[in-house]
Amino acid sequence: MIVLDQENKIFTLHTQNTTYQMKVDQYHVLEHIYYGARIDNRDLSGLIKCGERSFSPNPDEAGRNRDYSLDVMPQEYSTCGVGDFRLPSIELELPGGSHTADLRYEGFHLEKGKYKLVGLPGFHGMENEAETLVVLLKDSAARIAVEMYYGVFEDFDLITRAIRLVNEGTETIRVCRCASLCLDFTRSDLDLITFNGHHLMERCLDRGPVRPGIQSVGSVRGISSHQHNPFVMICDHDADEDRGMCYGAMLLYSGSFEAAVECSQYENSRLVMGIHPYHFCWTLEPAGTFTAPETAMVCSPDGFGQMSRQYHKAIRKHLLRDPYQYERKPVLVNNWEATYFDFDADKLVDIAREAADLGIELFVMDDGWFGSRNDDNSGLGDWQVNREKLPGGLEALVPCVKDLGMKFGIWMEPEMVNEDSDLYRAHPDWILRVPGRAPSRGRGQLVLDFSRKDVRDHIYDQMKAVLDSADISYIKWDMNRSLTDVWSAGLPAGRQGEVYHRYVLGVYDLLERLHCDYPYILIEGCCGGGGRFDGGMLYYTPQIWCSDDTDAIDRLRIQYGTSFCYPVCTMGAHVSAVPNEQNGRFTPLETRGITAMSGAFGYEMDLGKCTEEEKRKIRCQVETYKKHYNLIHDGDYYRLSSPFQDSSYTAWEQVSAGQKEALVNVVMGCTHSAPPFRTLRLKGLNPSFQYQVDGIGETYSGGELMKSGYPLPQIRGDYPAFQIYLKAVG
Ligand code: DGJ
Repeated sequence: MIVLDQENKIFTLHTQNTTYQMKVDQYHVLEHIYYGARIDNRDLSGLIKCGERSFSPNPDEAGRNRDYSLDVMPQEYSTCGVGDFRLPSIELELPGGSHTADLRYEGFHLEKGKYKLVGLPGFHGMENEAETLVVLLKDSAARIAVEMYYGVFEDFDLITRAIRLVNEGTETIRVCRCASLCLDFTRSDLDLITFNGHHLMERCLDRGPVRPGIQSVGSVRGISSHQHNPFVMICDHDADEDRGMCYGAMLLYSGSFEAAVECSQYENSRLVMGIHPYHFCWTLEPAGTFTAPETAMVCSPDGFGQMSRQYHKAIRKHLLRDPYQYERKPVLVNNWEATYFDFDADKLVDIAREAADLGIELFVMDDGWFGSRNDDNSGLGDWQVNREKLPGGLEALVPCVKDLGMKFGIWMEPEMVNEDSDLYRAHPDWILRVPGRAPSRGRGQLVLDFSRKDVRDHIYDQMKAVLDSADISYIKWDMNRSLTDVWSAGLPAGRQGEVYHRYVLGVYDLLERLHCDYPYILIEGCCGGGGRFDGGMLYYTPQIWCSDDTDAIDRLRIQYGTSFCYPVCTMGAHVSAVPNEQNGRFTPLETRGITAMSGAFGYEMDLGKCTEEEKRKIRCQVETYKKHYNLIHDGDYYRLSSPFQDSSYTAWEQVSAGQKEALVNVVMGCTHSAPPFRTLRLKGLNPSFQYQVDGIGETYSGGELMKSGYPLPQIRGDYPAFQIYLKAVG
């Protein structure tokens, strides 16, 4: 609910459990007043205190009032070079050469439903689902307008923000920085939580206190990256899964980004998040506009678990798009780890046949089916079937797979090209490359200049020819390197600072075209696994391959970190063979199944090599997954332990709406002889319901399971795992 106090110029955004308030002050500056647990509509600006502070300048309008300084007041969108020395949200290069921005309130308006951004991903909401407030700020000297969009999704405690700049002057302005989010706190006794890692180990949680000065994470790789995720949290020092105030901030962007927190001299904190300013400079002609990507904030006064569940529900309902918001996604088998580049049609059909017999529904042909692609040094860019490997082409292969009762999916890496390809030979000027420099290769490949429409059109035409040639239900959209040599032949020298962002817009443009032309094709995002696992991609690709690391034990950490913001249904997760291809570890098939089942489930192994006993288990896993699909994907997700804190076991749980069913998943660490007897306290159940344990028949009350806990069985062997399905009875 958006509440306006027009007389006092106060804007209050209420969600079910939270309140966000801003107020225009006596000098027309938009102050950030409050964000936290829900309170009533009163003016909370009394919370903001100010007094004279040396070396903190006073704006001209303040006259002799030295108590007022932009340097100490909490801002809704911080400025630059005019008195606030903390992290700026905006930096402009004005025609005269100055780098300043000074913003004052001009007005507001309301819109029905959730605002939409042109060319950028965003949450969506109809009139009865969301509200929009637009607050207008202006820099009268620079003649620039800043439209600040707020989308309020009451039921999800979700507030989205976006920024649109308009050049209202007659001269060209250069935008050097335009953050998507600025969030000021009048305290600094807070922790910062970030999600970091590398290829094969993404989104590992790191937590530490907000310290004096600036702490930041980000990416200058042109992708959101394996190294840092564009989702961060700020919380009370003692906040945990169930208690304490925490704030999530998610940037819906798939390129270079920065999330920075500054603890300032008077122990205030500021979080600023947006496109990374490295090599960013956008030319804004008179009447030109620039839109910064959306951010989505969830505040939870009741710990991390509640914040995550709100994000999960909001992403499922208001970020993913029809038809894959709720439609059940097929269990898939992917041939990558089974064959790598070494396959022919018979081998693929054999895997598909085995898979169909086990209840698997989609066969995905991974890398190696096109051009001259027999290893990763050639072929990218030539999206035509390699007839030496697949003589009958897709026209012959796809019907064979479909005759087995399966759908067919295909791998592509549209943004890339190998030098050894017909595309590169014909268009060597289509890549990102700095004149006079030989571009760096990554995995032996170069990056196509997706900021250029002619390049995208050519790739789209090739993709279309493939998609129209056979009945294809799924695309794995891969991307296997970071961007370097970022320079486009399509832009003049003075606009090269736009290329990183225009590249991302180009990727979104092509994905949107595919979405419009082939709405039923499920696109799984992939960037060497989880190098572009972000809210921006999720708008176009409702599931993302979580990591190239398929080891179940490593996946516990990766999926745990990912779950803080992103729902289970978005995390591509497969059972692979042992010893694991990435780390050589042996884990039981049950453990691999249970871990992957809390994701967009599939297999990535040569099923023909499985024993009859293994096949029996796989059939059973597929049945279990299908049976509990709604519970796993739409249920409330509870982290019961952290793989970063307790190495003896990792447990998590899904609880259905109405609390009638729950699925508890437990993976033990290395076992020891004579281990202690332990109990596992469950969460989210109805204390007065009686729950029966499936297969065992024992009954416990919800209260008992949550307070005294469920006795963990003692099982032998390395990394055993089990699932407990609970159903309310009576
Ligand atoms: C990286 C992906 O993450 C893998 O799953 C696989 O598709 C390879 N690329 C293929 O080159």
